[in-house]
Amino acid sequence: MSTANKTSKKIVIAIDGFSSCGKSTFAKAIAARLGYIFIDTGAMYRAVTLYALQQGAIRSGIVDEDAVVALLGDVEITFRFNPKRGASDIYVNGDLAEDKIRSIEVSNCVSGVSSIREVREKLVAMQQQMGRDRGVVMDGRDIGTVVFPDAELKIYMTADARVRAERRYAELKAKGDDVTLDEILENVISRDNADMTRTISPLRRADDAVELDNSYMSVEEQMAWFMERYEQVINE
Ligand code: DC
Repeated sequence: MSTANKTSKKIVIAIDGFSSCGKSTFAKAIAARLGYIFIDTGAMYRAVTLYALQQGAIRSGIVDEDAVVALLGDVEITFRFNPKRGASDIYVNGDLAEDKIRSIEVSNCVSGVSSIREVREKLVAMQQQMGRDRGVVMDGRDIGTVVFPDAELKIYMTADARVRAERRYAELKAKGDDVTLDEILENVISRDNADMTRTISPLRRADDAVELDNSYMSVEEQMAWFMERYEQVINE
């Protein structure tokens, strides 16, 4: 393939893996490097969860599935690029929700919401629409298996649970959240289990995905690892 064709060839990069693996940070860096659009699909499941909490479809941590399905038609998720973050902020029915969707309350309820078939159908359709022109880096749990099974490059990210809990703890503490490391570790482990054992679209490595364990890798090392694989795919 000629150099001109190589640089203009746009692909879909699917990044799946456990929670708090640094998938979004990695995906965002890749998108900036390649001039691609970055889509954080976890933020979309969090947005529906936030709306369900606000509307009373989740009470005392119990998700009322019928009530969530009933309000799905009213929840409007949009993205708007924020140059300060170098990524898009998520809006729920016009309200900026970027911070609220990361709260421990939303984190504790999101597995229950993301296991509802109708929720997944709506969000998967939106994600496929957003990536229809290729040139996207999408991170989630089912991107390489369900959303874009034909993605040209699939990465399955893993990292030690304690390392992941420490990263998320530092992030939340920096924002002033009152949380403990044990609480975060428990949330990380229970979400891993929920993500891997749910009936619909469970988290699993696609057969053609390459695995990246980033427990002890710097962002620069991860980027070098990625660029090697990217060059291979783009030169095929
Ligand atoms: O990536 P995250 O931790 O922000 O994702 C939040 C939750 O959403 C996670 O517990 C699993 C769910 N999720 C999903 O089921 N499918 C996706 N494609 C992305 C996230």
